[in-house]
Amino acid sequence: MAKPKIQYTCQSCDATFNKWSGQCGDCKEWNTLEEGKIPPTKVANRFAGYAGLSNNPSVQNLTEVAGQDIARNSSGLGELDLALGGGLVAGSVILIGGDPGVGKSTLLLQAVAEIAKTRPCLYVSGEESAQQIKLRADRLNANSDGIRLLMDTSIERILAAVDAEKPSVLVIDSIQTMHTEALSSAPGAVAQVRESTALLVRFAKATNTTIFLIGHVTKDGSLAGPRILEHMVDTVLYFEGKTESRYRLLRAIKNRFGAVNELGVFAMQENGLIEVKNPSAIFLSRSLPEVSGSVVMVTKEASRPLLVEVQALVDQSQSDSPRRLALGIEPSRLAMLLAVLNRHAGFSTAGQDVFINLVGGVRVTETASDLAVLMAILSSIKNKPLDPQWVIFGEIGLAGEIRPVPNGQERLMEAQKHGFKKAIIPWANRPTKGSQLNELEVIPLQKISDALDLL
Ligand code: TYD
Ligand code: MG
Repeated sequence: MAKPKIQYTCQSCDATFNKWSGQCGDCKEWNTLEEGKIPPTKVANRFAGYAGLSNNPSVQNLTEVAGQDIARNSSGLGELDLALGGGLVAGSVILIGGDPGVGKSTLLLQAVAEIAKTRPCLYVSGEESAQQIKLRADRLNANSDGIRLLMDTSIERILAAVDAEKPSVLVIDSIQTMHTEALSSAPGAVAQVRESTALLVRFAKATNTTIFLIGHVTKDGSLAGPRILEHMVDTVLYFEGKTESRYRLLRAIKNRFGAVNELGVFAMQENGLIEVKNPSAIFLSRSLPEVSGSVVMVTKEASRPLLVEVQALVDQSQSDSPRRLALGIEPSRLAMLLAVLNRHAGFSTAGQDVFINLVGGVRVTETASDLAVLMAILSSIKNKPLDPQWVIFGEIGLAGEIRPVPNGQERLMEAQKHGFKKAIIPWANRPTKGSQLNELEVIPLQKISDALDLL
Protein backbone atom coordinates (compact mmCIF):
# COMPACT_ATOMS: atom_id res chain seq x y z
CA MET A 1 0.00 0.00 0.00
CA ALA A 2 1.23 3.45 -0.84
CA LYS A 3 2.17 5.58 2.14
CA PRO A 4 -0.21 8.48 2.87
CA LYS A 5 1.13 11.84 1.71
CA ILE A 6 -1.00 13.84 4.10
CA GLN A 7 -0.75 13.96 7.84
CA TYR A 8 -2.68 15.78 10.56
CA THR A 9 -0.70 17.77 13.10
CA CYS A 10 -2.04 18.95 16.43
CA GLN A 11 -1.54 22.72 16.69
CA SER A 12 -1.31 22.47 20.43
CA CYS A 13 1.14 19.64 21.12
CA ASP A 14 2.61 18.90 17.68
CA ALA A 15 1.58 15.22 17.66
CA THR A 16 0.93 13.83 14.17
CA PHE A 17 -1.77 11.40 13.00
CA ASN A 18 -2.69 9.69 9.76
CA LYS A 19 -6.40 10.32 10.23
CA TRP A 20 -8.27 13.42 11.21
CA SER A 21 -10.31 13.41 14.39
CA GLY A 22 -12.05 16.06 16.44
CA GLN A 23 -9.82 15.55 19.45
CA CYS A 24 -6.07 15.17 19.61
CA GLY A 25 -5.27 11.66 20.84
CA ASP A 26 -2.20 12.95 22.61
CA CYS A 27 -3.01 16.16 24.47
CA LYS A 28 -6.83 15.77 24.29
CA GLU A 29 -7.36 19.29 22.95
CA TRP A 30 -10.37 19.71 20.66
CA ASN A 31 -10.30 20.91 17.05
CA THR A 32 -6.56 21.30 16.92
CA LEU A 33 -5.69 18.83 14.13
CA GLU A 34 -4.72 20.45 10.87
CA GLU A 35 -4.04 18.86 7.55
CA GLY A 36 -0.61 19.19 6.06
CA LYS A 37 1.86 17.47 3.77
CA ILE A 38 4.35 15.12 5.30
CA PRO A 39 7.51 17.23 5.27
CA PRO A 40 10.57 15.88 3.52
CA THR A 41 12.82 14.34 6.13
CA LYS A 42 15.67 16.74 5.43
CA VAL A 43 14.26 20.06 6.53
CA ALA A 44 16.36 23.18 6.28
CA ASN A 45 19.76 21.59 6.36
CA ARG A 46 21.19 24.68 4.77
CA PHE A 47 22.07 26.08 8.16
CA ALA A 48 23.39 22.81 9.56
CA GLY A 49 26.81 24.44 9.61
CA TYR A 50 25.59 26.77 12.32
CA ALA A 51 25.00 23.86 14.66
CA GLY A 52 28.72 23.30 14.66
CA LEU A 53 28.26 19.79 13.28
CA SER A 54 31.54 18.42 12.07
CA ASN A 55 32.00 14.95 10.69
CA ASN A 56 34.25 13.78 13.49
CA PRO A 57 32.56 14.27 16.81
CA SER A 58 35.21 14.51 19.48
CA VAL A 59 34.61 13.42 23.04
CA GLN A 60 36.68 15.09 25.71
CA ASN A 61 37.18 15.14 29.45
CA LEU A 62 35.19 17.76 31.29
CA THR A 63 38.28 18.78 33.25
CA GLU A 64 40.13 19.50 30.00
CA VAL A 65 37.53 21.94 28.80
CA ALA A 66 38.93 25.43 28.95
CA GLY A 67 36.94 27.58 31.35
CA GLN A 68 35.39 30.75 30.08
CA ASP A 69 33.91 33.70 31.88
CA ILE A 70 30.52 34.63 30.52
CA ALA A 71 30.86 38.15 29.24
CA ARG A 72 27.75 40.19 29.93
CA ASN A 73 26.74 43.45 28.40
CA SER A 74 24.25 45.79 29.94
CA SER A 75 20.96 46.19 28.15
CA GLY A 76 20.76 49.75 29.42
CA LEU A 77 17.77 48.83 31.59
CA GLY A 78 18.92 47.77 35.05
CA GLU A 79 15.76 45.81 35.78
CA LEU A 80 16.05 43.85 32.55
CA ASP A 81 19.68 43.09 33.35
CA LEU A 82 18.61 41.89 36.78
CA ALA A 83 15.98 39.53 35.38
CA LEU A 84 18.57 38.21 32.93
CA GLY A 85 20.97 37.44 35.77
CA GLY A 86 23.32 40.37 35.21
CA GLY A 87 23.05 41.42 31.58
CA LEU A 88 23.01 40.18 28.02
CA VAL A 89 25.11 37.17 27.10
CA ALA A 90 26.44 37.10 23.55
CA GLY A 91 24.94 34.26 21.53
CA SER A 92 22.05 33.70 23.90
CA VAL A 93 18.42 33.50 22.85
CA ILE A 94 15.89 35.10 25.18
CA LEU A 95 12.16 34.50 24.91
CA ILE A 96 9.88 37.17 26.39
CA GLY A 97 6.28 36.07 26.85
CA GLY A 98 3.31 38.05 28.04
CA ASP A 99 -0.30 39.02 27.47
CA PRO A 100 -1.11 41.30 24.55
CA GLY A 101 -0.69 44.93 25.54
CA VAL A 102 1.41 44.26 28.61
CA GLY A 103 4.32 46.16 27.06
CA LYS A 104 6.66 43.63 25.45
CA SER A 105 7.30 45.69 22.33
CA THR A 106 7.72 48.81 24.45
CA LEU A 107 10.25 47.12 26.73
CA LEU A 108 12.39 45.84 23.89
CA LEU A 109 12.24 49.06 21.91
CA GLN A 110 13.47 50.91 24.99
CA ALA A 111 16.24 48.37 25.55
CA VAL A 112 17.28 48.49 21.91
CA ALA A 113 17.37 52.29 21.99
CA GLU A 114 19.84 52.10 24.88
CA ILE A 115 21.97 49.32 23.40
CA ALA A 116 22.08 51.06 20.02
CA LYS A 117 24.14 53.85 21.58
CA THR A 118 27.11 51.53 21.63
CA ARG A 119 26.35 48.51 19.48
CA PRO A 120 24.37 47.83 16.29
CA CYS A 121 20.82 46.57 16.83
CA LEU A 122 18.15 45.31 14.46
CA TYR A 123 14.46 45.34 15.35
CA VAL A 124 12.39 43.01 13.17
CA SER A 125 8.63 43.35 13.36
CA GLY A 126 6.09 41.12 11.75
CA GLU A 127 3.22 42.78 13.58
CA GLU A 128 3.49 46.52 13.18
CA SER A 129 4.36 48.93 10.42
CA ALA A 130 7.49 51.07 10.49
CA GLN A 131 5.26 54.12 11.11
CA GLN A 132 3.74 52.52 14.17
CA ILE A 133 7.15 51.76 15.59
CA LYS A 134 8.32 55.27 14.81
CA LEU A 135 5.29 56.63 16.63
CA ARG A 136 6.06 54.52 19.66
CA ALA A 137 9.73 55.52 19.65
CA ASP A 138 8.70 59.19 19.54
CA ARG A 139 6.38 58.64 22.46
CA LEU A 140 9.17 56.96 24.40
CA ASN A 141 11.59 59.74 23.54
CA ALA A 142 13.80 56.85 22.57
CA ASN A 143 17.05 57.71 20.93
CA SER A 144 16.33 56.07 17.60
CA ASP A 145 19.67 56.89 15.99
CA GLY A 146 21.28 53.48 15.86
CA ILE A 147 18.13 51.40 15.59
CA ARG A 148 17.73 49.58 12.30
CA LEU A 149 14.26 48.36 11.39
CA LEU A 150 13.04 45.51 9.23
CA MET A 151 9.42 44.64 8.51
CA ASP A 152 9.39 41.02 7.42
CA THR A 153 8.11 37.62 8.41
CA SER A 154 10.29 35.27 6.43
CA ILE A 155 13.11 33.83 8.51
CA GLU A 156 15.25 33.22 5.43
CA ARG A 157 14.98 36.85 4.33
CA ILE A 158 15.53 38.06 7.90
CA LEU A 159 18.65 35.94 8.29
CA ALA A 160 19.96 37.27 4.99
CA ALA A 161 19.41 40.84 6.21
CA VAL A 162 20.99 40.04 9.57
CA ASP A 163 23.96 38.54 7.80
CA ALA A 164 24.51 41.84 6.01
CA GLU A 165 23.75 44.10 9.00
CA LYS A 166 25.68 42.08 11.58
CA PRO A 167 23.79 43.45 14.60
CA SER A 168 24.94 42.39 18.03
CA VAL A 169 21.34 42.38 19.27
CA LEU A 170 18.40 41.19 17.20
CA VAL A 171 14.75 41.51 18.25
CA ILE A 172 12.03 39.37 16.64
CA ASP A 173 8.54 40.74 17.31
CA SER A 174 6.91 38.23 17.43
CA ILE A 175 7.99 34.63 16.85
CA GLN A 176 4.39 33.63 16.08
CA THR A 177 4.31 35.86 13.00
CA MET A 178 7.47 34.31 11.54
CA HIS A 179 7.62 31.53 9.00
CA THR A 180 10.29 29.58 7.20
CA GLU A 181 9.97 28.88 3.51
CA ALA A 182 10.96 25.28 4.10
CA LEU A 183 7.49 24.53 5.48
CA SER A 184 4.15 25.07 3.85
CA SER A 185 2.03 25.56 6.97
CA ALA A 186 0.75 28.98 7.98
CA PRO A 187 2.74 31.32 10.29
CA GLY A 188 1.85 30.64 13.90
CA ALA A 189 1.45 26.90 13.32
CA VAL A 190 3.43 24.81 15.74
CA ALA A 191 5.84 23.45 13.17
CA GLN A 192 6.53 26.94 11.81
CA VAL A 193 7.21 28.43 15.22
CA ARG A 194 9.47 25.56 16.13
CA GLU A 195 11.41 25.50 12.89
CA SER A 196 11.82 29.30 12.81
CA THR A 197 13.09 29.27 16.39
CA ALA A 198 15.50 26.45 15.61
CA LEU A 199 16.98 28.43 12.73
CA LEU A 200 17.34 31.55 14.87
CA VAL A 201 18.92 29.60 17.74
CA ARG A 202 21.49 28.05 15.43
CA PHE A 203 22.20 31.44 13.94
CA ALA A 204 22.65 33.02 17.37
CA LYS A 205 25.12 30.37 18.48
CA ALA A 206 27.10 30.50 15.25
CA THR A 207 27.41 34.28 15.09
CA ASN A 208 27.33 35.23 18.79
CA THR A 209 24.29 37.42 18.23
CA THR A 210 21.97 38.01 21.18
CA ILE A 211 18.41 37.36 20.03
CA PHE A 212 15.23 38.46 21.79
CA LEU A 213 12.10 36.60 20.74
CA ILE A 214 8.73 38.05 21.69
CA GLY A 215 6.14 35.34 22.27
CA HIS A 216 2.39 35.53 22.65
CA VAL A 217 0.62 33.94 25.52
CA THR A 218 -2.56 31.91 25.18
CA LYS A 219 -5.68 32.30 27.30
CA ASP A 220 -4.46 29.80 29.88
CA GLY A 221 -1.25 31.76 30.32
CA SER A 222 1.27 29.50 28.60
CA LEU A 223 3.37 30.56 25.66
CA ALA A 224 1.50 29.96 22.42
CA GLY A 225 3.13 27.36 20.27
CA PRO A 226 4.83 24.26 21.42
CA ARG A 227 6.30 23.86 24.86
CA ILE A 228 9.40 22.92 22.94
CA LEU A 229 10.04 26.64 22.40
CA GLU A 230 10.92 26.99 26.07
CA HIS A 231 13.39 24.12 25.80
CA MET A 232 15.12 25.53 22.76
CA VAL A 233 15.98 28.97 24.09
CA ASP A 234 18.46 29.88 26.83
CA THR A 235 16.28 32.19 28.86
CA VAL A 236 12.53 32.52 29.28
CA LEU A 237 11.14 35.71 30.79
CA TYR A 238 7.49 36.45 31.46
CA PHE A 239 6.29 39.99 31.46
CA GLU A 240 3.37 40.10 33.88
CA GLY A 241 0.99 42.69 35.14
CA LYS A 242 -2.59 43.72 34.77
CA THR A 243 -3.20 46.35 32.10
CA GLU A 244 -5.18 48.37 34.62
CA SER A 245 -2.33 48.38 37.15
CA ARG A 246 0.74 50.37 36.28
CA TYR A 247 3.32 47.92 37.61
CA ARG A 248 4.88 45.27 35.41
CA LEU A 249 6.97 42.37 36.64
CA LEU A 250 9.58 40.72 34.48
CA ARG A 251 10.07 37.23 35.86
CA ALA A 252 12.75 34.74 34.85
CA ILE A 253 11.20 31.28 34.41
CA LYS A 254 14.25 29.61 32.97
CA ASN A 255 17.79 30.91 32.70
CA ARG A 256 20.86 29.02 31.58
CA PHE A 257 22.97 32.02 32.65
CA GLY A 258 21.43 33.02 35.96
CA ALA A 259 18.91 32.38 38.70
CA VAL A 260 15.25 31.75 38.03
CA ASN A 261 12.43 33.61 39.73
CA GLU A 262 14.49 36.77 39.53
CA LEU A 263 12.17 39.76 39.27
CA GLY A 264 12.60 43.00 37.40
CA VAL A 265 10.03 45.67 38.21
CA PHE A 266 8.79 48.43 35.92
CA ALA A 267 6.02 51.00 35.98
CA MET A 268 4.16 51.81 32.75
CA GLN A 269 3.79 55.53 32.21
CA GLU A 270 2.72 57.95 29.51
CA ASN A 271 6.17 57.88 28.00
CA GLY A 272 7.06 54.25 28.42
CA LEU A 273 8.35 51.97 31.11
CA ILE A 274 10.37 53.31 33.98
CA GLU A 275 12.41 51.13 36.27
CA VAL A 276 11.35 50.65 39.86
CA LYS A 277 14.66 50.30 41.64
CA ASN A 278 13.30 49.77 45.12
CA PRO A 279 10.11 47.81 44.66
CA SER A 280 9.71 46.22 48.08
CA ALA A 281 6.69 48.23 49.19
CA ILE A 282 4.97 49.09 45.89
CA PHE A 283 2.11 46.68 46.50
CA LEU A 284 1.23 48.04 49.93
CA SER A 285 -1.32 50.76 50.39
CA ARG A 286 0.26 53.64 52.26
CA SER A 287 -1.96 53.45 55.30
CA LEU A 288 -3.41 50.02 55.78
CA PRO A 289 -6.80 50.23 57.42
CA GLU A 290 -7.54 47.88 60.26
CA VAL A 291 -9.81 45.37 58.56
CA SER A 292 -10.29 41.69 59.21
CA GLY A 293 -8.82 39.26 56.71
CA SER A 294 -5.89 41.41 55.67
CA VAL A 295 -2.24 40.80 56.58
CA VAL A 296 1.16 41.73 55.17
CA MET A 297 3.77 39.14 54.25
CA VAL A 298 7.37 39.34 53.06
CA THR A 299 8.14 37.21 50.05
CA LYS A 300 11.64 36.63 48.83
CA GLU A 301 11.62 34.54 45.71
CA ALA A 302 13.92 36.84 43.82
CA SER A 303 17.04 38.55 45.05
CA ARG A 304 14.99 41.36 46.58
CA PRO A 305 12.32 41.00 49.25
CA LEU A 306 8.81 42.17 48.43
CA LEU A 307 6.11 43.17 50.91
CA VAL A 308 2.73 41.92 49.80
CA GLU A 309 -0.73 42.32 51.25
CA VAL A 310 -2.70 39.07 51.55
CA GLN A 311 -6.47 39.28 51.78
CA ALA A 312 -8.89 36.54 52.76
CA LEU A 313 -12.64 36.48 52.83
CA VAL A 314 -14.55 33.59 54.39
CA ASP A 315 -18.27 33.81 53.96
CA GLN A 316 -21.38 31.63 54.27
CA SER A 317 -21.79 29.95 50.89
CA GLN A 318 -24.98 30.59 48.95
CA SER A 319 -24.70 27.35 47.00
CA ASP A 320 -24.29 23.67 47.79
CA SER A 321 -20.75 23.56 46.51
CA PRO A 322 -18.75 26.27 48.29
CA ARG A 323 -16.18 28.13 46.24
CA ARG A 324 -12.46 28.24 46.88
CA LEU A 325 -10.73 30.93 44.89
CA ALA A 326 -7.04 31.69 45.16
CA LEU A 327 -5.59 34.63 43.24
CA GLY A 328 -1.84 34.84 43.51
CA ILE A 329 -1.22 31.54 45.29
CA GLU A 330 -1.58 27.92 44.20
CA PRO A 331 -5.18 26.70 44.62
CA SER A 332 -3.87 23.34 45.86
CA ARG A 333 -1.89 25.14 48.56
CA LEU A 334 -5.12 26.79 49.74
CA ALA A 335 -6.91 23.43 49.86
CA MET A 336 -4.08 22.05 51.99
CA LEU A 337 -4.13 25.01 54.37
CA LEU A 338 -7.89 24.67 54.86
CA ALA A 339 -7.45 20.98 55.70
CA VAL A 340 -4.69 21.77 58.20
CA LEU A 341 -6.84 24.51 59.71
CA ASN A 342 -9.70 22.10 60.20
CA ARG A 343 -7.63 19.26 61.60
CA HIS A 344 -5.14 21.12 63.80
CA ALA A 345 -6.98 24.26 64.79
CA GLY A 346 -10.56 23.04 64.76
CA PHE A 347 -11.84 25.64 62.29
CA SER A 348 -13.99 24.04 59.65
CA THR A 349 -14.72 25.92 56.44
CA ALA A 350 -17.32 23.41 55.26
CA GLY A 351 -20.22 25.28 53.70
CA GLN A 352 -18.16 28.47 53.48
CA ASP A 353 -16.79 30.25 50.45
CA VAL A 354 -13.09 31.05 50.79
CA PHE A 355 -11.47 33.73 48.66
CA ILE A 356 -7.77 34.64 48.75
CA ASN A 357 -6.29 37.57 46.91
CA LEU A 358 -2.75 38.93 46.75
CA VAL A 359 -3.16 42.65 46.24
CA GLY A 360 -1.75 44.21 43.09
CA GLY A 361 -1.84 41.06 40.98
CA VAL A 362 1.33 39.66 42.56
CA ARG A 363 1.94 35.94 42.30
CA VAL A 364 3.80 34.06 45.03
CA THR A 365 4.98 30.54 44.41
CA GLU A 366 7.05 30.01 47.55
CA THR A 367 5.64 28.37 50.65
CA ALA A 368 6.43 31.32 52.93
CA SER A 369 2.96 32.68 52.18
CA ASP A 370 1.30 29.81 54.11
CA LEU A 371 1.28 31.40 57.54
CA ALA A 372 0.14 34.77 56.19
CA VAL A 373 -2.73 33.17 54.25
CA LEU A 374 -3.73 31.12 57.29
CA MET A 375 -3.72 34.15 59.60
CA ALA A 376 -5.75 36.12 57.07
CA ILE A 377 -8.30 33.29 56.91
CA LEU A 378 -8.48 33.06 60.71
CA SER A 379 -8.86 36.82 60.98
CA SER A 380 -11.72 36.74 58.49
CA ILE A 381 -13.46 33.80 60.19
CA LYS A 382 -13.25 35.46 63.60
CA ASN A 383 -13.90 38.89 62.11
CA LYS A 384 -10.96 40.18 64.09
CA PRO A 385 -8.65 42.67 62.38
CA LEU A 386 -4.93 42.11 62.80
CA ASP A 387 -2.67 45.02 63.62
CA PRO A 388 -1.51 46.57 60.31
CA GLN A 389 1.92 46.96 61.91
CA TRP A 390 2.39 43.19 61.83
CA VAL A 391 4.23 41.29 59.18
CA ILE A 392 3.89 37.53 58.77
CA PHE A 393 5.67 34.72 56.93
CA GLY A 394 6.29 30.99 57.35
CA GLU A 395 5.58 27.59 55.87
CA ILE A 396 2.95 25.28 57.33
CA GLY A 397 3.38 21.52 57.44
CA LEU A 398 0.66 18.90 57.32
CA ALA A 399 1.14 18.15 61.01
CA GLY A 400 0.25 21.73 61.86
CA GLU A 401 3.85 22.69 62.52
CA ILE A 402 5.28 26.03 61.38
CA ARG A 403 8.38 25.42 59.34
CA PRO A 404 11.30 27.74 58.59
CA VAL A 405 11.73 29.50 55.24
CA PRO A 406 14.96 30.63 53.56
CA ASN A 407 16.35 34.15 54.10
CA GLY A 408 14.47 34.81 57.34
CA GLN A 409 16.87 37.58 58.44
CA GLU A 410 16.63 39.50 55.19
CA ARG A 411 12.85 39.39 55.29
CA LEU A 412 12.86 40.72 58.85
CA MET A 413 15.31 43.51 57.99
CA GLU A 414 13.11 44.58 55.10
CA ALA A 415 10.01 44.65 57.33
CA GLN A 416 11.86 46.75 59.89
CA LYS A 417 13.03 49.13 57.19
CA HIS A 418 9.43 49.78 56.28
CA GLY A 419 8.40 50.52 59.82
CA PHE A 420 6.63 47.33 60.79
CA LYS A 421 6.54 46.77 64.53
CA LYS A 422 5.92 43.08 64.96
CA ALA A 423 6.87 39.97 63.00
CA ILE A 424 5.11 36.61 63.31
CA ILE A 425 7.55 34.04 62.00
CA PRO A 426 8.61 30.37 62.30
CA TRP A 427 10.50 29.40 65.44
CA ALA A 428 13.55 28.27 63.49
CA ASN A 429 13.77 31.66 61.77
CA ARG A 430 14.07 33.65 65.01
CA PRO A 431 16.93 36.10 64.90
CA THR A 432 20.25 35.17 66.39
CA LYS A 433 21.96 37.30 69.01
CA GLY A 434 23.54 40.45 67.65
CA SER A 435 21.08 40.90 64.82
CA GLN A 436 20.16 44.48 64.07
CA LEU A 437 16.48 44.04 64.62
CA ASN A 438 15.99 46.48 67.45
CA GLU A 439 12.79 48.16 66.31
CA LEU A 440 10.96 44.99 65.31
CA GLU A 441 9.46 42.74 67.93
CA VAL A 442 9.77 39.15 66.73
CA ILE A 443 7.26 36.49 67.79
CA PRO A 444 8.47 33.05 66.77
CA LEU A 445 5.81 30.31 66.55
CA GLN A 446 6.08 26.54 66.56
CA LYS A 447 2.55 25.30 65.92
CA ILE A 448 -0.70 26.58 64.49
CA SER A 449 -2.18 26.66 67.97
CA ASP A 450 0.39 29.35 68.87
CA ALA A 451 -0.99 31.45 66.02
CA LEU A 452 -4.49 30.96 67.38
CA ASP A 453 -3.40 32.16 70.82
CA LEU A 454 -2.06 35.33 69.20
CA LEU A 455 -5.46 36.17 67.79
P1 TYD B 1 2.99 47.15 23.75
O1 TYD B 1 4.44 47.28 24.00
O2 TYD B 1 2.50 47.42 22.37
O3 TYD B 1 2.46 45.73 24.22
P2 TYD B 1 2.75 44.28 23.63
O4 TYD B 1 3.84 44.40 22.63
O5 TYD B 1 3.11 43.47 24.83
O6 TYD B 1 1.47 43.82 23.04
O7 TYD B 1 2.27 48.11 24.80
C1 TYD B 1 0.99 48.48 24.61
C2 TYD B 1 0.39 49.13 25.81
O8 TYD B 1 1.26 49.94 26.54
C3 TYD B 1 -0.70 50.00 25.31
O9 TYD B 1 -1.91 49.54 25.86
C4 TYD B 1 -0.38 51.38 25.74
C5 TYD B 1 0.68 51.22 26.77
N1 TYD B 1 1.72 52.26 26.65
C6 TYD B 1 1.80 53.25 27.60
O10 TYD B 1 1.01 53.33 28.53
N2 TYD B 1 2.80 54.19 27.50
C7 TYD B 1 3.69 54.18 26.48
O11 TYD B 1 4.58 55.05 26.43
C8 TYD B 1 3.59 53.15 25.49
C9 TYD B 1 4.54 53.09 24.35
C10 TYD B 1 2.60 52.20 25.62
MG1 MG C 1 3.76 44.09 20.55
